[in-house]
Amino acid sequence: MPTVTSIINLKGGVGKTTITLALAHFLTLEHHKRVLVIDLDPQTNATVCLIPEREWQRRDEAGLTLYQLFADAVKGTHRFDADAAIVRDVSNIAGGIKGLDLLPSSLRLIKVQDRVTQITDFETYERGPIFALRDALAEFLPYYDHILLDCPPSLGVVTLNGLAISDSYLVPVVPDILSVLGIPPILDRVEHFAQRTRRNIRALGIIISKMRAQTILHNEMERRLREDFVERRFPPVFRTVVPESTRIAEAANVLAPVNTLQQKYGNGGPMDELSALTQEFLWHVSR
Ligand SMILES: Nc1ncnc2c1ncn2[C@@H]1O[C@H](COP(=O)(O)OP(=O)(O)O)[C@@H](O)[C@H]1O
Ligand SMILES: [Mg+2]
Repeated sequence: MPTVTSIINLKGGVGKTTITLALAHFLTLEHHKRVLVIDLDPQTNATVCLIPEREWQRRDEAGLTLYQLFADAVKGTHRFDADAAIVRDVSNIAGGIKGLDLLPSSLRLIKVQDRVTQITDFETYERGPIFALRDALAEFLPYYDHILLDCPPSLGVVTLNGLAISDSYLVPVVPDILSVLGIPPILDRVEHFAQRTRRNIRALGIIISKMRAQTILHNEMERRLREDFVERRFPPVFRTVVPESTRIAEAANVLAPVNTLQQKYGNGGPMDELSALTQEFLWHVSR
């Protein structure tokens, strides 16, 4: 069975999508893993970084995105077809990477999430479509080595569907005061969900993201994060730090014609860090 990992934080803009995409690219191209990215965020950032926006739109209109899965839950229909919705061999590297697949999100998830929220019990999780994603993907997951779930900055029904198939999660944080304060509530909420649904969801680690090594604040917050781990209050902080880098931001462009990881992420740029991050991720999941 695959390793299923949610990339989660209640804050937006902390690098969740960027880290999900980097892991997906390095796992497939440097480690020859079969990877499925599931985009749970209605902002559809991961989706439009892996397939052109036009293709996403066509698929969304045809009911081939996660919108359809939750619309079914609301309407009692069974239209969602996971096999048809999964886009194979995505990314702009060399016209598509063999073994890198995507289950696209939809802007329309926002509306449908409001509807499913009304029929969900967030204390017991016994009422509401918490396991819709699990049931829809059951026969497809074993094909992959890794499933990466790019979560929205909330713990609504859609994110819970992701956690319901996850055996681990990663928390990207920008090393500043508000981001660090935001970590304990995430750990608590995931633990609450895991206990109530009798699952084990391992906090794989915290990833320091968008690090500006020349600032005192970022260095101070990195030191504090690592000390908090020593005191056992937080999950381990990854040794590898993702620097703030224009090359990383530019790599999001799926229309750029590139042929290699080096061309996408830049020679001498953040290639080494992202490669090290992926190796560290593999080390953590293997433990
Ligand atoms: N390491 C980085 N260096 C530079 N820009 C980054 C980096 N990580 C993320 N960004 C940029 O910051 C913004 C938010 O990142 P994103 O990954 O979308 O965060 P989230 O998914 O947590 O909302 C995006 O514009 C992205 O391009
Ligand atoms: Mg995002």
